[in-house]
Amino acid sequence: MSNEPIALAKALASFEALWSPRIVSRVNDYDVRVAKVEGEHLWHVHDDTDEFFLVIDGELHIALREPAGERTVTLPTGSVFTVPRGTEHKPYAPSGAAILLFEPTGTPTVGDRHDEIPDHVDVTTGHSLDP
Ligand code: NI
Repeated sequence: MSNEPIALAKALASFEALWSPRIVSRVNDYDVRVAKVEGEHLWHVHDDTDEFFLVIDGELHIALREPAGERTVTLPTGSVFTVPRGTEHKPYAPSGAAILLFEPTGTPTVGDRHDEIPDHVDVTTGHSLDP
């Protein structure tokens, strides 16, 4: 892990893979990850942790299955949203987006339970940022 400042634009420019987060920093036992996304992720749930989203560029939608029913939140650039633990969710970005995630180190991208994993989704706990 670098102990130098990380320019997020530069970090994002260093890889092309979609739905494949890179770890840019750590805070206590949490990762700060950035990802490029486009199209749909998959329905999944993190049983034991909330998941924080910050949209750096573009627009992200997150479909949520809540006790009251299903709804979608829309996050334009600069927006933050936290998916509560135990809530099924499916992020999607028809026009593409760059996002920052904050979640405990080791949290899998597809959660603890999930739908069938499409080919374009990387199952990972985050990749290191190559220098
Ligand atoms: Ni998630």
